Amino acid sequence: MLPGRRRRPRRRGLGLPGAALLLAWLAALALAEPAARAPALSAFFGTKSRYEDVARPGPAAPAAPGGCAPLQLVALVRHGTRYPTAKQVRRLRALRGLLQRAGPGPAAALARWPLAYEDWVDGQLVDKGRRDMRRLAARLARRFPALLGPGGPGRARLVSSSKPRCLDSAAAFARGLWAQRHPGRPEPAAADMEFGPPKINDKLMRFFDHCEKFLVEVEKNDSALYHVEAFKNGPEMQKTIKKVADILQVPASDLNADLIQVAFFSCSFDLAIRDIHSPWCEIFDTEDAKVLEYLNDLKQYWKRGYGYAINSRSSCSLFQDIFHHMDEAIEQRQRSQPISSPVIFHFGHAETLLPLLSLMDYFKDKESLTAYNYKEQMHRQFRSGRIVPYAANLIFVLYHCEHAEVPGREYQVQLLLNEEPLPFVHSPDTVTSYQELKDHYKDILQSCHADQECVLPNINITSDEL
Ligand SMILES: *[C@@H]1O[C@H](CO)[C@@H](O)[C@H](O)[C@H]1NC(C)=O
Repeated sequence: MLPGRRRRPRRRGLGLPGAALLLAWLAALALAEPAARAPALSAFFGTKSRYEDVARPGPAAPAAPGGCAPLQLVALVRHGTRYPTAKQVRRLRALRGLLQRAGPGPAAALARWPLAYEDWVDGQLVDKGRRDMRRLAARLARRFPALLGPGGPGRARLVSSSKPRCLDSAAAFARGLWAQRHPGRPEPAAADMEFGPPKINDKLMRFFDHCEKFLVEVEKNDSALYHVEAFKNGPEMQKTIKKVADILQVPASDLNADLIQVAFFSCSFDLAIRDIHSPWCEIFDTEDAKVLEYLNDLKQYWKRGYGYAINSRSSCSLFQDIFHHMDEAIEQRQRSQPISSPVIFHFGHAETLLPLLSLMDYFKDKESLTAYNYKEQMHRQFRSGRIVPYAANLIFVLYHCEHAEVPGREYQVQLLLNEEPLPFVHSPDTVTSYQELKDHYKDILQSCHADQECVLPNINITSDEL
């Protein structure tokens, strides 16, 4: 390793000395070494961020509100660390091919770094992703022993998207819970069956696939991502392309924003999946990483966030479903019945969580993220890496509180995002009465109907009239 290489001032156009340095570094890296600490770039990996680089789960978890006991957990969990999709693997291969053809030099040296991913990996959960889930289950069981620990009710409902990475996440999570509930016992092969197989529900977990208006106006509409394309051709991105071309000693015209983004993904995949510091990371500095993070966030913003109202409106049935569960638990409690679903875990995607958080008005900046306000958005709230890293989770904790002096305060709610209390939009507190929360979201709870929201306007319905 070259000690202190991160502090090496980076000039534009490294020329031969820079190239020699990269070559030497690549040679020294015959065996990649584990990334002991989070590399500086990992703060900018967006949806490809490692959970542990973002979340700060700790024993310092604040206790339940005074006199309250958790009655129910309703959680949304993004799958754990995953492999690149087949499309991303094809792009990684194309990038290597291009660098191999560049002739001897830093580009060819970088292209010799083996491509660790085959087409078959197609977005599957990796071993690290299973560990993400087991560890999350273990931490939550310690935090909510009455619901998830050995003495808990032993009933958990698991709901999952149909994607294998989500089903596998649910299974790994269930095994993690099993281990907490049966301490000291060897884990049986069917440990994940204690709670039964997860119930697949794509209408809830992949609502975006079932929303015609979203599909036509956003997903399949090239001009919907106008700002993403414009930013790729904008001055910030062009500067990054030029810098990388100089380091690799290839003509800038051989590179484009998509290839640069794939190279950046290589850096994040190698860290998240294999826990190694990839030589791909070496061609970027922090300034480049911020530009590439913005490119990623722009896409999430316009496709899953505030860019278009339908992005979040399409999630309102999921939002309502969560409240139905809490309503049901409260009714059962009031009738002194056992709670039928004290624990419900949903396994989905970043694309499940971002629209829901947007529906709830979280991480909303005053101005839209556009191709032209990169600088102004430097301190934006909408940073997908902070919100939805791998294994991201949003948990509604419903409490029952004894001796609540104020009527209506008997049931309270806390929101945890990535295991940290999330202040409410309607108040700076991290605990609110259930009724207050329902009042705040009254509009969505009463007037948002996904089937109506998702109808395309102005479609020709003459066939109906015939
Ligand atoms: C595609 O997106 C653009 C920009 O939002 C919009 O003006 C246009 O109507 C959309 N096209 C369709 C078919 O919805």
